[in-house]
Parts: sequence; structure tokens; C-alpha cells
Amino acid sequence: MMETIVSPSLLSADFLHLDKEIEMINESEADWLHMDVMDGVFVPNISFGFPVLNAVGKVCRKPMDVHLMIVHPENYIQQTADAGAAIMNVHYEACIHLHRTLQAIRAAGMKAGVTLNPSTPVNVLEDIIGDIDIVQLMSVNPGFGGQKFIEHSIKKVQRLRQLIAHEGSHALIEVDGGVQAETAPRLVDAGADILVSGSYVFKAGDPKAVIHALKSLQR
Ligand code: DX5
Ligand code: ZN
Repeated sequence: MMETIVSPSLLSADFLHLDKEIEMINESEADWLHMDVMDGVFVPNISFGFPVLNAVGKVCRKPMDVHLMIVHPENYIQQTADAGAAIMNVHYEACIHLHRTLQAIRAAGMKAGVTLNPSTPVNVLEDIIGDIDIVQLMSVNPGFGGQKFIEHSIKKVQRLRQLIAHEGSHALIEVDGGVQAETAPRLVDAGADILVSGSYVFKAGDPKAVIHALKSLQR
């Protein structure tokens, strides 16, 4: 039995009361805290940046899973590590020298994650899967919380699971976007190890109960 890693996305939290939201995460069964940085260039939205990461990093007791939706993420590796991130996810589409960037992320003491947009096929990772700790599949187009799950993502998880097995890689599969009661069990069945969930967790009446429900999904 494989336990599901749950990484709630802070993007849907109440930004006026971030201290309370982090307290909830600390007390919950969440494994990680997912943080979405957007630059208004790589994606058509702007979220938050290093001042917020630094502040949250001081009080969050869960490993920070940082998802950079920005151009030139390689310029921000040290700042991400200094904020206390445990995982740094960069977009495949934003990295010309992906291999070099992944080495630098690991050298800075973080786990190296690569994120794929919905339109990017998993086989582009064939020659680099051995150097990746986490592959994050976007199951919505990145930039916004609360969007509809793209159904094709289930097949993509299965395809990535096959690629990982074929190449003898230890990479974990993370899925981000539209993860809720109906899609979460199907993603876990398809082979997802890590579920990111924003609006489903933070807009719930009882977020800790939702985290518990996601956490109890097993494969
Ligand atoms: C979207 C972000 C997601 C987002 C997910 O670009 O990367 O992490 O917060 O939100 P939900 O779970 O509401 O789809
Ligand atoms: Zn994200």
C-alpha cells in the first residue's frame, strides 16, 4: 500500500489571515504546503513572491513545496532555498537548460521537481527522468485556482507511471489542479503519489477533514 502525500495549495487560502491558515496546516495531516509563485509572464496572473515565502517559511512546520510559474526560474534557486523550501518545482516549458537547473536545485539542498503543462507530453522527460525527484503534472492550465479538471490528465498519470517504471526512476508523481472528491481517488488509482489541492481544501467548511479524506486514499 502506497500512502498519498497531500500538499494543500496556499493560493486559495485567506490572505488576510495567513497566520490562521498556516496554523490549520500545521495541525492537519497535510504532508507538505504547496506555494504557487506567478509572474504575470509565464502565466496570465500574479500571485505572491519571496516576501510571502520567507514569512510563511518561518512558521510553517510542513515542508514547503514551491511551484514556480515564472520565466527564468534558474535565477531564483538560492532565494527559494533561503526561504526554506524543501521542494522546488520548475516548469519544463520555462527551462532551456533543464538538466543544469535540476543539478543546481539539488546542489542547493532541495528536491528537484519538473512541472508539465497540460499540452506537454510526458515523453519529453525520457532522457532526464533519472535526474528528477518529482514530476508535477498540471491537470488545469496553470495560473488560477478553482478551475475544471482536464480529464485527459488521468491517462497522462498512467503514461508517466509506465515511463518511470521503464526507466527505473524513483521520481514521484504529483498532480496539480482540479483535485477534489471525484478526481482524487481516480488519480491515485492511476498512479499519482502526491495530490495538490487548493480550493477543495481551503474553501471547505472543515479543511482538516478534507485533508484527512485525501490522506486516506491508498493505492
Ligand atoms: C494553479 C496552481 C494550483 C492551484 C490549484 O496554477 O498551480 O496549485 O492552486 O487550485 P485548485 O486545487 O483549486 O485547482
Ligand atoms: Zn501549483
